[in-house]
Parts: sequence; C-alpha cells; structure tokens
Amino acid sequence: MHPGPVGIFDSGLGGLSVWREVRKLLPHEPLIYYADSARCPYGPRPAAEIRQFSGEITRWLLDRGCKLIVVACNTATAAAISWLREQFEVEFVGMEPAVKPAAAHTRTGHIGILATRGTFGGAHFQRAVERFAAGVEVHVQPGDGLVELVEQGRLDGPETEALLRRYLEPMLGAGCDQIVLGCTHYPFLLPAIRRIAGPEVQLIDPAPAVARRVRELLHARGLEAPADAGPLLEAFTSGDPASFASVLSRAELAGLRTGYAQVAGFAAN
Ligand code: DGL
Repeated sequence: MHPGPVGIFDSGLGGLSVWREVRKLLPHEPLIYYADSARCPYGPRPAAEIRQFSGEITRWLLDRGCKLIVVACNTATAAAISWLREQFEVEFVGMEPAVKPAAAHTRTGHIGILATRGTFGGAHFQRAVERFAAGVEVHVQPGDGLVELVEQGRLDGPETEALLRRYLEPMLGAGCDQIVLGCTHYPFLLPAIRRIAGPEVQLIDPAPAVARRVRELLHARGLEAPADAGPLLEAFTSGDPASFASVLSRAELAGLRTGYAQVAGFAAN
C-alpha cells in the first residue's frame, strides 16, 4: 500500500523554498503544495484568521490523503501550529525561527531576524529568544512589503534592493554577523540579500532543518514512500493559476517547476 503524499502549504510561493529542500532530501516522496495566493500576505492578518485559513487548508490536504503536513510559513506556524495539533491527528512540521543556530554561532553577540510582523507577534518566537538567546542581542526587523515583491516575481532590481537595504543596514550597522531569514519567501531574495550583507555575514535559512525533520518523522512513523514510488508532484493555488504559473516560470524559480504535474486554481474554503 502506498502511504499518501506530504502536504506543504504557505500563504503563497514562499513555501517552495521548503519544498525544494524536501525534494532534495526525499526525491521519492509524493508532494502536494498549496499556495493560498488569494489571501496572501498572512503577515498583517490577525492570528485567529490565520488559524481559520490553516484549518481549511489542512482539511483540504487531508481529503487528498496527506500523511504529514508541513506548515511552510513562519507566520502560520506562529499563529496556528499549536491549535492545528489540537484539532487534527495528523503530524505537523512547522518552521523554526532559527534563533538557536544564530545565537550559537555569533561571534559579535548580535543576531538579526528578518520576518513578518505576525511571526514576531507569536509566543513561539518569544519562547525561542528566551530559551536560546541568553546573553545575545536580538535585532528584529519586520520585512513589510517583501512577501508582495516575491509574489510578483520581483526578486531583484532597484525597488527590491532599496527595501532590503532599509531593513538590513540597521542590523549590519549594529554588528549582526548572523541574519535569520525568518519567512519562507525570503530565501528567494538571497542573491540581493547576499550582495548587501557581504560575504562575512551568515545568512540562515531554516528550510534544510525543516526538511531533515520531515525525513526523521516519516522514518520514525514508518511512513516513507517506497524508493520506486512514482513521483506525484502537484501544486495548487487559491489565486489565479495563470499568474502563479507565470511567476514560477521566472529563471530563479524555474528549477522548482521540474516535475510539477499540475498548477490548478482551487479555493480551500
Ligand atoms: N511565507 C510566509 C512566512 O514564512 C509569508 C507570510 C505572509 O504571507 O506574510 O511567514
């Protein structure tokens, strides 16, 4: 018997930065991606609303037989993951704010976190700072507007660079030598971020650690797909499938399209 696919969801394209890490580590796993593009961004929304959306998407993924669900969105993890775990029996993997590795590796004692306001507002983030960042100065920066730029496929260029400079320069000026990309959309801005931050600053993308956690859990529960499983790779959006597909076709994201069986419009609610 074939266990079902792994479901991965985000407010939009961002979770694809997690999808690609899961693909790398688990090339045989069937995956279903859900982008809630019609209701993106989640960052400025109240937590209760994000919980409702996450619940709707989870139900939809479960209807498609998902055996494990990755909340590939820091904002939804902050607002909803504890609630999702109470409501549903399926196993969830969420995003970690990556305060721990940043605090462990800093030599200057200053770390920067770039994330959405929703992520900073959650207890999840506060707890991570209290647990892992004792004696370290944590510089937080909400990345207002960055998710929208990624959704439009504007991954570089003057406007993107100017906004990134506005957010990164204060952290760099304060001596941060570790900067956490605390939103799954931000790894797609990596070339521009790297250019601004310079080669010395460590940029932390939590996605590879999340993919390792997925592998660990599937293994522990005996849920791994057989090595000869034919790949089932599907992506759905609650927004306009044509514009979703057209952003995906941009060179920087093109690699992610490999194997996509479907880009379809669908509303989860
Ligand atoms: N990718 C989501 C995250 O990691 C973006 C949230 C949003 O839509 O604002 O937080």
